[in-house]
Amino acid sequence: MSAEAPQVVPLQARHAAALGEMIEELQAAGEPFERYRERLGFDWEGAAGYIAFWSRLWDGPWPERGLVQSEFYVLMRGDRMLGEFALRLALDAGLEREGGNVGYRVRPSERGRGHATRMLRFALGRLGELGFARALLTVRTTNAASLRVVAKCGGRFVDEVELPSGELNRRFWVPTFPFPE
Ligand SMILES: CC(C)(COP(=O)(O)OP(=O)(O)OC[C@H]1O[C@@H](n2cnc3c(N)ncnc32)[C@H](O)[C@@H]1OP(=O)(O)O)[C@@H](O)C(=O)NCCC(=O)NCCS
Repeated sequence: MSAEAPQVVPLQARHAAALGEMIEELQAAGEPFERYRERLGFDWEGAAGYIAFWSRLWDGPWPERGLVQSEFYVLMRGDRMLGEFALRLALDAGLEREGGNVGYRVRPSERGRGHATRMLRFALGRLGELGFARALLTVRTTNAASLRVVAKCGGRFVDEVELPSGELNRRFWVPTFPFPE
């Protein structure tokens, strides 16, 4: 493994190969993107389509699809993609229960190394820079690793909400800070 420090960068067309490789690992680990597609109500073709989708949302909301403006970043170590995260710049009734302001994912082979914590810290700094005082995070009560990530970033428990599936989401407000930390 390279000793190069991981870097957060906006997802761009040049990341298609690295993204495709990370998606393959997620699929093989039984974490397919299909659920993600269903939730977003949008289909795309391969890594390039996924990148184009997020690029569209970076430019502004997509009211016809009920999607809010979002920034989308990836954590890279050299040419290897370690994880991804979305910053949702507005909350609607759906996101208040499921999704919140920040959503993140780390590829299975890179978990447990602080990458999600690093990504959430970046997200909080960026939101602070954009004028948000706090970020809403929603986490399944069963997702111990993500609950720990939110706790490490100062999340304050708000409540639990039941989803149509019967699963529970725990909601937190996490204070932002201005860049640089
Ligand atoms: C949740 C997820 C993003 C965490 O990524 P990560 O890079 O492993 O997170 P970090 O290494 O920054 O921190 C994980 C923390 O959880 C802890 N942890 C991991 N598994 C745990 C478990 N089963 N029980 C309790 N704590 C656990 C780790 O020890 C670590 O805490 P520590 O730093 O105090 O030791 C990753 O597992 C993932 O992508 N899961 C699938 C997608 C997802 O759930 N996204 C979040 C939706 S809210």
